[in-house]
Amino acid sequence: MNKVEAIIRPERLSIVVSALAEEGFHGLNVSHVTGRGEQRGIAYVGRAGQSYVVDMLPKVKLEIVVRDHDTQRVIDTIITAARTGEVGDGKIFVIPVANAIRVRTGENGDVAL
Ligand SMILES: Nc1ncnc2c1ncn2[C@@H]1O[C@H](COP(=O)(O)OP(=O)(O)OP(=O)(O)O)[C@@H](O)[C@H]1O
Ligand SMILES: [Mg+2]
Repeated sequence: MNKVEAIIRPERLSIVVSALAEEGFHGLNVSHVTGRGEQRGIAYVGRAGQSYVVDMLPKVKLEIVVRDHDTQRVIDTIITAARTGEVGDGKIFVIPVANAIRVRTGENGDVAL
């Protein structure tokens, strides 16, 4: 069992969530975060010539815990739906998960997902 943690562009959230649902993945967590990647935010010049640096950008973090054999399919689905080809498209981390327990029934393991 793995947790797929994907940091994506906020404007791609609904298309990524729909693409995951089409593949049968419904349970997930969404958090609004700020962060930065390799470019350390963005620098730009305003209309009056003043320069600005925004070093933390708004992103959305999706967390989806999936069976081992579904992990690659979830990753591929997120990449296809989230990619624009420009810098800042995001990043995906895969983290091993020891167990999952459904509170209502006490079921655990893959059946609890
Ligand atoms: N090493 C990291 N650890 C944790 N979060 C990260 C890391 N790198 C990026 N992030 C998060 O992912 C977001 C998007 O990163 P981003 O897509 O800019 O990555 P990048 O490595 O700079 O790739 P690119 O060159 O395509 O922009 C960041 O704003 C930050 O929230
Ligand atoms: Mg970047």
